[in-house]
Amino acid sequence: MKTTSTDYHNRTADEYDQGYQSPYWRIYNEITWHYIKSVLPRNKDDALILDAGGGTGLWAIKTAELGYKVVMTDIADNMLEMARKKIADEELTNKITILNCDIIDMSQFDNEQFDLSLAEGDTVSYCSDPEKAISELARVTKPAGHVTVSVDNKLNWVAIYYKQGKIEQAEELLRTGMAQMQVKSGHGFDWFPAYMFTIEELKTLFRKYNLDPIKAVGKPVFTPFDKCLENSEIYKCFLDLELEFSSLPSVAGKGGHIALIGKKL
Ligand SMILES: C[S@@+](CC[C@H](N)C(=O)[O-])C[C@H]1O[C@@H](n2cnc3c(N)ncnc32)[C@H](O)[C@@H]1O
Repeated sequence: MKTTSTDYHNRTADEYDQGYQSPYWRIYNEITWHYIKSVLPRNKDDALILDAGGGTGLWAIKTAELGYKVVMTDIADNMLEMARKKIADEELTNKITILNCDIIDMSQFDNEQFDLSLAEGDTVSYCSDPEKAISELARVTKPAGHVTVSVDNKLNWVAIYYKQGKIEQAEELLRTGMAQMQVKSGHGFDWFPAYMFTIEELKTLFRKYNLDPIKAVGKPVFTPFDKCLENSEIYKCFLDLELEFSSLPSVAGKGGHIALIGKKL
């Protein structure tokens, strides 16, 4: 069934966290946390972080636990509801403001309000206008502040489609930058549109909106989606490899996802 990202996330919000418990996704999240930590604002007491498309609150909670004030947004009310419960359980309600907001129209925020703006976990891929999303992230971020954006890697998906014999989908993705993302939910499989990028395409958009792309990271680059990760020693080997090498320019573009970190000029 064709759906939208918002319907899908509203329908599956209560299963969302469970879907990301496997060792593969734990490594993905470790890589993300590694680069988020590298751009956390120094002025913890008066800094403000935006977690746009924050889902069930993973990054809002992790940054608030360090003492930061966070505004987390999402377009799917049920995801926000899950986040609200977790934030209350962690006793972080005084640190995190939760708002329903489309990343492509953040007019409820002033210009240059945030020291760090996060758009993790494909929010920019799933929204209806990725360029508008990046322009909004840039607008609300203070000069010298940072923006992180994670998206689906277009070339990785082209290769997957070729491997599956889906040549038309691969060529449509190459031509349009868009694919129908297949996702699993309680009643089977759904599809919703996702925009995908190469590192170069994402860098061009960053530069257009005064974000200097300081680092690109592949997420993950080396780690296989495989049972071998259940062995804790092997898990650690892959994690170390990712943390040391996944931002090398020669390998970052091979990631399942791409993260780009920009500094607002
Ligand atoms: C895969 S989840 C990632 C959640 C979280 N950022 C994380 O990394 O755990 C993608 C999220 O983007 C949200 N989203 C999709 N389109 C959006 C939009 N236009 N504006 C705000 N959030 C959006 C979805 O509702 C969903 O919660």
